[in-house]
Formats: sequence, C-alpha cells, structure tokens
Amino acid sequence: TNSPLDEKDLVIIGGGVAGYVAAIKAGQEGMKVRLPVACIEKRGTLGGTCLNVGCIPSKSLLNNSHMYHQILHDTKNRGIEVGDVKLNLANFMKAKDTAVNGLTKGVEFLLKKNGVEYIKGAGSFLNENDIKVELNDGGETTVRGKNILIATGSEATPFPGLEIDEKRVITSTGAIALDKIPETMVVIGGGIIGLEMASVWSRLGTKVTVVEFLGQIGGPGMDAEIAKATQKLLKRQGMDFKLNTKVISGDKSVGLHSSTPCIVALVFPICRMNTNLSSQLNADVVLVAIGRRPYTQGLGLENIGMELDERGRVIIDSEYRTKIPHIRCVGDVTFGPMLAHKAEEEAVAVVEYIKKGYGHVNYGCIPSVMYTYPEVAWVGQNEQELKNQKIPYRVGTFPFSANSRAKTNLDTDGLVKMLADPETDRLLGVHIIGPNAGEMIAEGTLALEYGASTEDIARTCHAHPTLAEAFKEAAMATNSKAIHF
Ligand code: FAD
Ligand code: NAI
Repeated sequence: TNSPLDEKDLVIIGGGVAGYVAAIKAGQEGMKVRLPVACIEKRGTLGGTCLNVGCIPSKSLLNNSHMYHQILHDTKNRGIEVGDVKLNLANFMKAKDTAVNGLTKGVEFLLKKNGVEYIKGAGSFLNENDIKVELNDGGETTVRGKNILIATGSEATPFPGLEIDEKRVITSTGAIALDKIPETMVVIGGGIIGLEMASVWSRLGTKVTVVEFLGQIGGPGMDAEIAKATQKLLKRQGMDFKLNTKVISGDKSVGLHSSTPCIVALVFPICRMNTNLSSQLNADVVLVAIGRRPYTQGLGLENIGMELDERGRVIIDSEYRTKIPHIRCVGDVTFGPMLAHKAEEEAVAVVEYIKKGYGHVNYGCIPSVMYTYPEVAWVGQNEQELKNQKIPYRVGTFPFSANSRAKTNLDTDGLVKMLADPETDRLLGVHIIGPNAGEMIAEGTLALEYGASTEDIARTCHAHPTLAEAFKEAAMATNSKAIHF
C-alpha cells in the first residue's frame, strides 16, 4: 500500500544509538511542533548494533562470565566455600536477552514520549528529499524530509575466503549467542572485540588463541605500556597470544564431517615474510574480529550521487553535512572512532546544528573502555602519539597494589598512568588498567575536558578508601610525588 507523500522536519535512517538519540533530541528541541520527526529502522527493534548485538549483550556476558570465573577460582582466599558450581549456558544467554529487551523497549518508549514516529522498515533514497521505506510488515511507503540524517552504522569486516556462518566461523554476533561452549577458539584480531569475546569464552572454559597482526594487542589508541601489562594479565587467565602474526587464510571444510569439527587458520609471523614459516592453527570455532566497516548497503546512495571515501565512509564536513546540505550523517557510518558514546555526542550536536546553527563534539576527549578483567580505559593521547608528534610530556604512575581499597578487595592488578605537559602541567592523557577503570576514566575525561592540570587533580580531595585515590595519587606522582608509593 502506498501512503501519500508525508513531509517531516527530520527523517532519520537508522535507529541505532546515533539515530535514536538524534530522534529524541529533535523531539525535545520542538521539531515536532512544526512537522514531525521520523526514525526508520529495519531491524525490528531500536538501539542498533550497540543495544542488540554489541555493547549491551557483550557486557552482560562479560559481567556474568567474570562472576562465574571468580566463584570458581577466587573465593577460597576470601573465606568463602562454594559447592558444586555449574554454568547453565541457556540461562546465561537468557540473562543477556533480558537486559537487551528491557533496553530496546525503553528506547521505543522514549521515542513515543518525544513525539517521534518510528517506522519499521528499510529506507532508501529515491531522490534528495524522498525516502522509500520497505515496511517490515509488507508494503511500502514514502516519506519526505526537509532534513535527512544518515545513521546506518557499521557491520563486521569479513575475512576473505572464510565464509561467516555465525556457528563455526563467527563475528561478534555469533560470539554472543553460541549454544555450546567450544573446546577451542582462534580469534583473528586482538582488538577490543577480539579480547572481550576471548575473555567471555575463555572464562567459560574454551582454550582461546588470539592472533594479532601488530606487535601489541588492544587495537588503535591503547598505550603500549598498558597493552603489554594487559596481555600479561590475560595470558595469566589462560589466553594464548600470537603477535606480529597474520592470519592469511582459513579452511572451514576441515573436520566438517568428523565428530570434532575443526577449522584451520593458516598463520605466519609477519616479521619474517616467508610463507615457508607459516603454520596451522586448528580450532572448533574461529572468531573474525578484524574491525568493522561502514554500512550503506541498499540505501540508494547512488540515486543521489553521494560520495564515500576509500573506506566506504560517508563524507561530511565539520557540521556533519554531506555534499547535499540538508542531508547530514553521524555515527559509525562516517569518520571517527566506532563508539556508541561518540555516536551519541554527534547525534545531539547534529540536531543542534540543524536547529540552532551551532553544536560541538570534542574529539580529543572521547574515552575508550575495554571491558576485560581488569578493565582497560583511556582518554586523550598516549605516549606513542605524543612521541610521534614530538610533544614533550611528563609521566606519573600509581599502581593499584599500593591503593588501600584494591588491597582490601584483594584486587591489586594494574595501574593509573597520567601524561602531562612538563611546562604547564596540563593533563594530556590518562591510561588505566585496573578494577573499575571504565568508571574511573570518567574523572579523567572531565579533567581533560576542563583543561585541568595534574596539580588540580592532586589537590582535589578524594574519599578514602576508594580506588579513585589511585587516580589522585597518579596525579600527585606526575606533579610531584605520590604519598603511598
Ligand atoms: P548502529 O548501532 O550500527 O545502528 C545503525 C542502525 O541502522 C542498525 O540498527 C541498522 O539496522 C539500521 N539501518 C541500516 N541501514 C538501514 C536502512 N537502509 N533502513 C533502515 N534502517 C537501517 N561501543 C561502545 O561505545 N562501547 C561498547 O562497549 C561497545 N561494545 C561493542 C561490542 C560489539 C560486539 C560491537 C559489534 C560493537 C560495540 N560497540 C561499542 C560499538 C557500538 O556498537 C557502535 O559504535 C554503535 O552501535 C554505533 O551506533 P550507530 O547508531 O552509528 O550504528
Ligand atoms: P579493531 O580495529 O579494534 O581491532 C582489529 C585488530 O585485528 C587490529 O588490531 C588488527 O591489527 C587485527 N587484524 C586485522 N587483520 C588481521 C589478520 N589478518 N590477522 C591478524 N590480525 C589482524 O576492531 P574490532 O576489535 O573488530 O572492533 C571493531 C570496533 O568495534 C572497534 O573499533 C571499536 O570501536 C568497537 N568496539 C568497541 C568496544 C568497546 O568500546 N568496549 C567493544 C567492541 C567493539
């Protein structure tokens, strides 16, 4: 059925974090007063990758697998005797689904509350103003946008020659939904997805080998010293690493018909570029985690002559405008780190640009968190980046082994590291590995955003006993001397 052309103030394609936040903000800014706001999403639920198959389900599995692992291995020394501990994988997955369902429904409620029309279907450009929507329930409709926002996100980059079936050769989407615990797993790529998913399955009993092309784990942005410390701790938990090693091919036909299915991944050390040195790794499951790429399939960009860069990203200016000024773009499908909170900041800013003509995102101050155990978190610049740019810096560190709360909790692995300008003492970067690093980095982010010096942080009273005192003491170590180390 075709409905008449229906003009909206803002039409958003994609109901992920970028799209739904922009929709809510547009509703709040009163766009609906003149003309309504519409958010088109084809998945069937709102929240995009993050809520459905990304941030949220992965953190549920990380939290509960950590709890399980801790009950198995870290209770005796705390005077807690536990009996027969068992994992019920189906219920473990159900707990994840409960979290996801609650949050996606919550977003649907928020759209309604803010007067946003939620159109369930796949949107594609007919021309610069009209979007055709193939409705999930059948039929199609067309909406016209005075302003249009592309927020179609990203998808896993496939590994050439190794077809993804989400059972034996998986991306993160398969990795959050396996129905049995594999005996062995090879992870291609030691970035954030690789390490988070490796943590989950390794804690449940899978023997995991992570193969990473670069000389350090953690993906882009992680400080080399912190990456090294992280690798040591993850190795102690039972993970194997092959660094400076590239997976060159895979074969999933191996073992397909035997009782113990296995896949072969051919790897070779890149420092000695000699294929004779290549070796085979066998595993029941291979996780492909070599990065994500922008998703614009079926969007009809060819109908409006929209430009993409060499990595498939929609090209925008500093106000998120594409070359067609009333069509803007934010989130994973365009430039910048592929992070939910970055998408959220951009979504608010783009609506402000449309509505008021100004907006702001500080790209130098976007935190990153890897939810392994311990967590790794950072904001601002790392040592390698400062060195490469020949920016002088001073370093201060404080280990959790000298922090009273960490000692009390018998949880002392890790450190806080700060980098500051040696002349002005202005904070340049914070890098933490340790318990609750993901929460603690908020303090670092606030300090960086407000242009704090490490002395400002060192002179700020922190409650005792808290892990946050390690943050204060790292600032003292950068500025002069820590008290407790
Ligand atoms: P998406 O969330 O991908 O949303 C885009 C939406 O658009 C999708 O729902 C898609 O169905 C829809 N769509 C696409 N094309 C059309 C069309 N033509 N018509 C209608 N709808 C369409 N980030 C963090 O900050 N913290 C984390 O802990 C974290 N964990 C992650 C874990 C995993 C396993 C993965 C894969 C990612 C994780 N991320 C994390 C990254 C985060 O998920 C993304 O940065 C975020 O989802 C980007 O939001 P987005 O709205 O730009 O895109
Ligand atoms: P990534 O870019 O972080 O890491 C991919 C890694 O794979 C790189 O280190 C790369 O060197 C390596 N690699 C590539 N090809 C290889 C090969 N053939 N053999 C061996 N290694 C190879 O990408 P990842 O981990 O897939 O994550 C994608 C994005 O999702 C990230 O950029 C991140 O922004 C987002 N994400 C964020 C999370 C968080 O904030 N906690 C959690 C999960 C994902």
